[in-house]
Amino acid sequence: MNKVNILQIGPYPDWDVEALSKNFILYPYYAAEDKSAFIAGCANSIRGVATRGDRGLSKELMEALPNLEIIAIYGVGYDAVDLDAARERNIRVTNTPDVLTKDVADFGVAMMLAASRGIIGGEDWVRSGDWSQKGNYPLKTRVFGKRVGILGLGRIGYEVARRCAAFEMDIAYSDLDKKEGADEWSYIKDSQALADRSDYLFVTTTGGAATKHIVNKKVIEALGPEGMLINISRASNIDEKALLTALENKTLGYAALDVFQDEPSLKPRFLELDNVMLQPHQASATVDTRKEMGRLVRENLEAYFSGRELLTPVI
Ligand code: 8YV
Repeated sequence: MNKVNILQIGPYPDWDVEALSKNFILYPYYAAEDKSAFIAGCANSIRGVATRGDRGLSKELMEALPNLEIIAIYGVGYDAVDLDAARERNIRVTNTPDVLTKDVADFGVAMMLAASRGIIGGEDWVRSGDWSQKGNYPLKTRVFGKRVGILGLGRIGYEVARRCAAFEMDIAYSDLDKKEGADEWSYIKDSQALADRSDYLFVTTTGGAATKHIVNKKVIEALGPEGMLINISRASNIDEKALLTALENKTLGYAALDVFQDEPSLKPRFLELDNVMLQPHQASATVDTRKEMGRLVRENLEAYFSGRELLTPVI
C-alpha cells in the first residue's frame, strides 16, 4: 500500500501516531499555528481524515478537502461530522463503537457513586486535617435501592442499566421504543416522566440535532432538588443554561458531568458551584480502551485504502 496522506484533526497517543505512520503520512492539523496556510499547503493531497469524537470535522474543512474519501473517528459519537455533506460526496465515515461501551458505563456509575457518597470531598476531609480537627465527615446519600432513569438505552445505556441492577436499583429507561433484552426495566417513553420518577438520571443518548436539549428546563425540574443528573453523552443533549440556573437555585440537586458545551472551555458559572462534579471528558479514557479505539481508526483506514470492507462503518 502506498502511503496515503491523512489529515489529523486532534492529538492521539504516541503509540497511535507511530502505528498510523507505518502506512500513512499524518498531517497534524491541530498542531498548526496558521491553520489556513497549513490547509492550503496540503488540501489537494489529503485522502483521509483521522479525527476524534469530540472534534469531528467542520463543514468548512470538509469542503476545503476536494479529494477526501474517508473520515475515521476515534470515538463512537459522530455528531460532530456532517453526515449529509459526507454522503453527498460519497465520503465514508467510520467510528469506534463497542470497544468503549463498558468503560463509559463504568465511568458514569463511578460518578454516581463518588458524588452520592462524597468520595472526592472525603479525600479532602482527610488530607486537609478536617477529620482530626472538625470530626466526622457529613453523612451522604445511599445509592443502592434508589430509582434510576436511563435516557437512551443504546449500548452504553444498557451497560449502565446492568451495572445499576447490581446495585439493586429500580431501573426505568426512555427511548424511541421499548427495547429487547430490557424486560426487567420499566419503559417510560417521555423524558420528563422518566426524570420525575428518578433519583438519578443518566443521559446516554446519542448527540445530534434530534436530541438537542432533550434534557430541558422541564426535565431538569422534574428530576428536582433531590435528583442527580449524570451526563456521559454529549453536552448538546442538555440545555446547559437551564442546567446552570437549576443548580444555582438548587431546583436540581446535583449534576455529574463529563462533557460540556465548548469544552475544554467551561462556562465560569460551573466553577462557582458546589453541587456539580466536573470531569474532563474522560469516560472512555483508559489505556486499554484507547488502544482499541486507535486500532479501529487504523484498521478502518487500512481496510478502505486496500479495497477491503470497513470494520465499523457509519456510512
Ligand atoms: C472520546 C467520545 O473522549 O466516543 C466518543 O464519542 O466522545 C469519547 O469516547 C473522544 O472521542 C476522544 O476524542
